[in-house]
Amino acid sequence: MHNRTLGIIGGTGWLGRAIAEALLDSGFISPDRLLVSNRSGTHTFEPPVRLLADNQQLVALSDVVVLSIRPEQFRELQINAKGKLVISLMAGIPAAAIRAATGADAVIRAMPNAAVEIRQSFTPWYSADSLSEQDRALVQGLFECVGTADEVPNEDCIDYLSALSGTGPALAAMLHQALVSQAVAAGIPPAIAQHAAQGVVVGGGQLLARHDPQEMIKALMAYRGVTAAVVQSMADQGIDAMVGRAVQQGAEVARRGL
Ligand SMILES: NC(=O)c1ccc[n+]([C@@H]2O[C@H](COP(=O)([O-])OP(=O)(O)OC[C@H]3O[C@@H](n4cnc5c(N)ncnc54)[C@H](OP(=O)(O)O)[C@@H]3O)[C@@H](O)[C@H]2O)c1
Repeated sequence: MHNRTLGIIGGTGWLGRAIAEALLDSGFISPDRLLVSNRSGTHTFEPPVRLLADNQQLVALSDVVVLSIRPEQFRELQINAKGKLVISLMAGIPAAAIRAATGADAVIRAMPNAAVEIRQSFTPWYSADSLSEQDRALVQGLFECVGTADEVPNEDCIDYLSALSGTGPALAAMLHQALVSQAVAAGIPPAIAQHAAQGVVVGGGQLLARHDPQEMIKALMAYRGVTAAVVQSMADQGIDAMVGRAVQQGAEVARRGL
């Protein structure tokens, strides 16, 4: 962080705490340059990380402020962040609303997901203002501490991706559930159905970290056997369109605002 101080409002929550811990573990920030705030006063950080009860004090002491509170909690947040770089992790709150409410000089919207916990989040981020190269590197580096990150060209990408990667494990979990319930309906004992679905979602997911998914499908289709029949049936029944409609539905919620 090049001697800059980072304050995380809501830094004791699920996302905020996971990010703070990753920043400390990776040495991206030194503990004396990290501030967190919440309302309850409870936290698990060791000094010299400081927990503040006063958000305005946190803002005053920080160069960069991360908003890691829930969208509905934002309405009650009262800070003046003039002169600061504000990075919001909140879904469905536009950059213009964040600037209007905080007076921040530069507003960034970023959308990590629950995989911050294992440092495998994909985090798209958008800057509503022109950024110095130093600030761009800071934002990219910050989110690379919890996985991979890409700057996106417009704010709508954030709303769309909130419904895609922002959902974290939700899509994979839905596939898992469908596989289990259909296998049980087909007469497979429930415990075995669970193991089989786990193999598909977790084992298959890990394999795809090393192989290109498109190439993988091509190779499996070439056998013209059981796998090819399953894949072809999913394609014929419009899996692309179904996934597209589901993600658009979520994106609409993000666009409408929370
Ligand atoms: N979790 C996810 O998978 C995920 C994915 C993408 C984006 N997001 C976004 O990330 C944000 C945080 O989500 P989360 O899951 O980490 O929520 P969370 O676990 O509920 O954390 C919110 C934190 O904010 C604190 N807080 C609330 N109001 C505050 C205030 N006025 N001042 C200071 N601290 C305050 C809460 O602590 P106290 O109650 O002690 O104040 C809590 O520690 C949300 O906006 C969400 O849209 C989450």
